[in-house]
Amino acid sequence: MKPVVLAGGSGSRLWPKSRAALPKQFLRLTSDLTMLQDTIARLEGSDAGQPIVICNDAHRFLVAEQLRQQDITHGGILLEPMGRNTAPAIALAALHASLHGEDPILLILAADHLINDAPEFHKAITQAETLANQGKLVTFGIVPDSAHTGYGYIKRGEQVMGVDVGFDVASFVEKPDLVTAQQYVDSGEFYWNSGMFMFKASRYLQELEKYAPEMLAICKQAIASESTDLEFVRVDADVFITCPDDSIDYAVMEKTDSACVVPLDAGWSDVGSWSSLWETAKQKDANNNVVIGDAILDGVTNSYINSEQRLISVVGLDNVVVVETKDAVLVAHKDKVQDIKNVVNQLKAEH
Ligand code: GDD
Ligand code: MG
Repeated sequence: MKPVVLAGGSGSRLWPKSRAALPKQFLRLTSDLTMLQDTIARLEGSDAGQPIVICNDAHRFLVAEQLRQQDITHGGILLEPMGRNTAPAIALAALHASLHGEDPILLILAADHLINDAPEFHKAITQAETLANQGKLVTFGIVPDSAHTGYGYIKRGEQVMGVDVGFDVASFVEKPDLVTAQQYVDSGEFYWNSGMFMFKASRYLQELEKYAPEMLAICKQAIASESTDLEFVRVDADVFITCPDDSIDYAVMEKTDSACVVPLDAGWSDVGSWSSLWETAKQKDANNNVVIGDAILDGVTNSYINSEQRLISVVGLDNVVVVETKDAVLVAHKDKVQDIKNVVNQLKAEH
């Protein structure tokens, strides 16, 4: 089984630490390792082979260096000339992995997730492999604890025979509105999609052929002229730029009738925002604050404070996020941290 690590996202809700030049997957946010390094390190002890990493061309040296720091031998760093979202990225990886007539099982991983319990994750991987071998497109489902609208929702169908825990997917709905998400959570029949998948390369490509044939044709054409330079694999930029932009969730998972879900209870978080970093932090002070770096707090509760260079001082506030970096400072209500992407959009528009 071959891991494919998706490392091309922008992580804009973790501004000002996460920047275009250094997005969240390349930061040390939850441990001494960067999120990319952690993603690969947690496979140790499973039967995963050498990972393929797929990222934007602009981040190639960052990725190569982070892999080298951890002595990670990889199966290629695939470079996208521009981001076209996860469906094409996975298509390129699947095509690349089957260039020599092979048909490996791919374990698709996001480079920016946190999983606390690696052995439990490995168990879920083993379950998923059985299903992937049967031609299924497997997702890993998380029991939801809120009506988060940034996730895909998977309705559990019939239990699949031959595995300990695995279900057919009755329906898959990507990023529903809040009312729908709440109904799903209340019903107790839905999982969150963790954003990790497992399938045979050929099965993904067949489903893409069915549901997004133009995307597949362009990816095939782009990779036909792939060139290798050091450890980097490049595709044809003039071709790839014409590729439709879509995620695997919309392009394939909502449509396929071959999806299965393996439940995952391994302390998963997608570390999507400063509030999720506060929630998952192992250490909080007596007032329920997470404090990183130099800070003096007085009468502060339930807050996330992260200083890179300067002393942060906060007095008499509850439920805030303060993040200081050398050229930008964020102060936000902890319940509003999803809106940080609006700041990033404004910055993009102005510069
Ligand atoms: N190589 C590459 N190229 N990677 C990409 C690209 C791209 O164009 N776009 C995103 N990625 C990477 C991100 O870095 C991340 O690791 C992963 O693919 C998922 O992309 P996100 O942009 O973070 O997706 P999302 O969070 O909105 O939604 C997905 O994840 C949720 C769980 O965190 C979906 O799969 C949801 O259904 C799921 O619930
Ligand atoms: Mg995400």
